[in-house]
Amino acid sequence: MPAISALAITGMPAPAGAYREVPGQGAIPARKLQSAIMISDRLFTIREEGDSILILDQTLLPHQYATRHLNSLADAAHAIRAMLVRGAPLIGVTAAYGVALALKEGAGNKALLHAVDTLAATRPTAVNLHWALARMYRHLLPLPVAQRRAAARAEARAIAEEDAATNRRIGEHGLALIGKIAHRPVNLMTHCNAGWLATAAWGTALAPVYAAREAGLPVHVHVSETRPRNQGLLTAWELHEAGIPHTLIADNAAGHLMRNGKVDLVIVGADRIAANGDTANKVGTYLKALAAADSGVPFFVAAPLSTIDRDCPDGAHIPIEERDGSEVRHVGGLDRQGVHATVAIAPDATAAANPAFDVTPARFITGIVTERGVRAPDELHRLFEDRS
Ligand code: MRU
Repeated sequence: MPAISALAITGMPAPAGAYREVPGQGAIPARKLQSAIMISDRLFTIREEGDSILILDQTLLPHQYATRHLNSLADAAHAIRAMLVRGAPLIGVTAAYGVALALKEGAGNKALLHAVDTLAATRPTAVNLHWALARMYRHLLPLPVAQRRAAARAEARAIAEEDAATNRRIGEHGLALIGKIAHRPVNLMTHCNAGWLATAAWGTALAPVYAAREAGLPVHVHVSETRPRNQGLLTAWELHEAGIPHTLIADNAAGHLMRNGKVDLVIVGADRIAANGDTANKVGTYLKALAAADSGVPFFVAAPLSTIDRDCPDGAHIPIEERDGSEVRHVGGLDRQGVHATVAIAPDATAAANPAFDVTPARFITGIVTERGVRAPDELHRLFEDRS
């Protein structure tokens, strides 16, 4: 991995005790990063089960654990749209399996195109969805119709397996960054959920956290709740399952903690990275990047190459999903009897805006952690040199 100094890239002043490189500690070896916590009978995001696909229903977590079978194109599209599965890489994997499910009913060109179009319309921002669908279409279209159904299942499986392997490498590269911080435990902050729940395995922003745990490097993670969908609760659940120290914070507390030296490094995932390094991620990420810049805290984005949209010149061209205002007017949780309930916190008549993502300009991003190493945002093109 290329040596990267966060402070050298951003030119920011070093906050007291934050990102200081410790001689000899940059190369903490990632031990064999095998861990039962990522994939087990219980802790998985998506897997094949006979003719159908089994998913963990993330709308019920962290209060209730339930799985669902996907048997058709409609099931897969609903799971993505209603966020039973979520997170850019997992959306891509689910869409790929959705194509395979669709072809059970007929695998002609019209059916293939219909499946791709239907799934592409589910969510607009995460480019992994469109990347996976384009890959499925390119792979399947030249094949004889009779071969397409089996080939679709195999290709979806390949996308899932590659995602797991990719994220593991992101973890190794991210671990080297964390290892350079002098403070113990290293205090990280993340936003939304970019853990294994958002991928086929390991996660992106949380992959280095799991790698640190495996390497015996003590870490603590500040987890912002991520209103309105509260994906931070998924992160807290993941970290609890893994026995990793963490603290849940209200979104609005992030700046205060950074300003007061409680955060050594921020690491978030991404839904789409433009060619110039501008990055769309869960709404609220931009505010964290601003606070990090003002507080001199390094701000990293962790994402696979499939999240980099080289056809998108900059953040202004990234489509931002607008979700229903009812998500802002309501919160869900357990009532006093322990029963899951959704309550209104504002009258239905209250107008509510609900942009699901925001764009962090490249200038606020210290580095992007990918499976091919860590790069400054203006060096992204080098990740693709001689390999595309
Ligand atoms: O709306 P979501 O929950 O699908 O949004 C997820 C995020 O924004 C994640 O941070 C991003 O997809 C990275 S996931 C590895």
